[in-house]
Amino acid sequence: MMKIKTITTTPFDDQRPGTSGLRKKVKVFQQSRYLENFVQSIFNALDDFQGKTLVMGGDGRYYNREALQLILKIAAANGIGRVMVGCDALLSTPAVSCIIRKYHAYGGIILSASHNPGGPDADFGIKYNTGNGGPAAEKITEAIYQHSLMISEYHTLETADINLSSIGEQRVGDMVVEVINPVIDYADLMEELFDFNAMRALLSSKNFSMRFDAMNAVTGPYAVEILEQRLQAADGTVLRAEPLTDFGGAHPDPNLVHARELVSMMSGTNAPNFGAASDGDGDRNMILGCDIYVSPSDSLAILAANATLVPGYARGLTGVARSMPTSQAVDRVADELGIPCYETPTGWKYFGNLLDAGRITLCGEESFGTGSDHVREKDGLWAVLFWLNILAVRKQSVADIVHDHWRKYGRDVYTRHDYEGVPTEGANALMEQLRVRTGELSGQHFDGYTIERCDDFSYTDPIDQSVSSQQGIRILFTSGARIIYRLSGTGTEGATLRVYIEQPENDQVKLSHDAQTLLADLITLSASISEIEKHTGRKAPDVIT
Ligand code: G1P
Ligand code: ZN
Repeated sequence: MMKIKTITTTPFDDQRPGTSGLRKKVKVFQQSRYLENFVQSIFNALDDFQGKTLVMGGDGRYYNREALQLILKIAAANGIGRVMVGCDALLSTPAVSCIIRKYHAYGGIILSASHNPGGPDADFGIKYNTGNGGPAAEKITEAIYQHSLMISEYHTLETADINLSSIGEQRVGDMVVEVINPVIDYADLMEELFDFNAMRALLSSKNFSMRFDAMNAVTGPYAVEILEQRLQAADGTVLRAEPLTDFGGAHPDPNLVHARELVSMMSGTNAPNFGAASDGDGDRNMILGCDIYVSPSDSLAILAANATLVPGYARGLTGVARSMPTSQAVDRVADELGIPCYETPTGWKYFGNLLDAGRITLCGEESFGTGSDHVREKDGLWAVLFWLNILAVRKQSVADIVHDHWRKYGRDVYTRHDYEGVPTEGANALMEQLRVRTGELSGQHFDGYTIERCDDFSYTDPIDQSVSSQQGIRILFTSGARIIYRLSGTGTEGATLRVYIEQPENDQVKLSHDAQTLLADLITLSASISEIEKHTGRKAPDVIT
């Protein structure tokens, strides 16, 4: 007989969810009652979930399976009716969103620390998504945090571990656990949106080849099913396809630094025509052509400009949105299309209301996140398939498509400099001294650059009027250039300072020049205005994208 047990506990004070859920070192999560407290706090913060369905899965990182076992027992003890869980505890973040929506589930729990490394000494995370398939709004994450500060007991079911390795239904107390194929629903949705026939024809042509680097993370099985099975791309198109608990020791972050092998494969005479990669939980993407890297901000603008070539978007876009630090490239496309472009704070949750209200169709972030109203998360493989569909229709190279776009709309030369693991006090001091100087900086001149305005970004959601303030310091120049400073909300060690630097460029000659060179003066200015070295002790960033 399975018994519901109520266990006494005391609060932890560090369970405030960040940019995307609660993210900590595995060792923190492994403390007795730590995960239990947080999961019970989720249920304490929610209403009317008795007998309802939740979707659960994770990116396969270390502690994924153990955590899921524990969560299932707490869910059963709290009266959840059914849990749909990916086989072997796997589900990519966009797949969770897709499944919540398709089966009208009450919500879902995602176990992931996204692009952060995995393993016993690395990172773990948990995130709650609501019935629209998207990350819970700040109101809910804050309520969960408040409950975590007052928690005194949690409920769990005394039962053996649940078999998560075979597809089908089983009973756990009064709750049904349905172990599902993690890939099928998502792959079916992709088949509805994109022209698989045209893409199959492109992939079978002798003049075209692609590589997708799954980085030993969760998208491996999805990419094999969609690219190699349904689209019949050559075997071996998907690299590092097997999900590993430590991602093979690498950072599962698709950028120029962490996807180095793919990047080097993409140049030279035998380079494939198209290269792409995705992150730990499958919501990020990087797009490469032969000898060209497409910045995520440009990628969003190019997808928006070409959307009607893709069946799922043939009717056009209602609007677009980008996070504040994302370059202004998509703004010009929106102008041209005569549709609204919204500027939101960093984090996917801010797109949710706009998507739900039908105000936007596409949205994206500079941090390798692109998505649409098909789910309520950013979606790595979706972006790759969108590009592949455009390539199949336009029959041009990635580089030609990018250069055509720049010729028509101009180019937003863009870079992001990250200073990782810097002392928290220094990082806070840097932000604070900029914050107090916003007024005084306006109107100042620095060789060739005039600051038009400087502020700390604040956003009022157009749907529910909720206000999010202190979302990053913006220095806006009269030329349209911008320097933005913000502290990461996803790191687990010290603070991470992100500096975003952007300058519009219409000079045709400069269009193909390297971004770091074109932005050299602004980069120097960004360091001196904010006194980066004084506050962080760093002379140079750790990661440049
Ligand atoms: C980072 C990105 C942000 C993204 C988030 C989750 O957050 O900058 O755009 O939404 O990861 O993938 P940050 O660490 O900057 O708070
Ligand atoms: Zn991610």
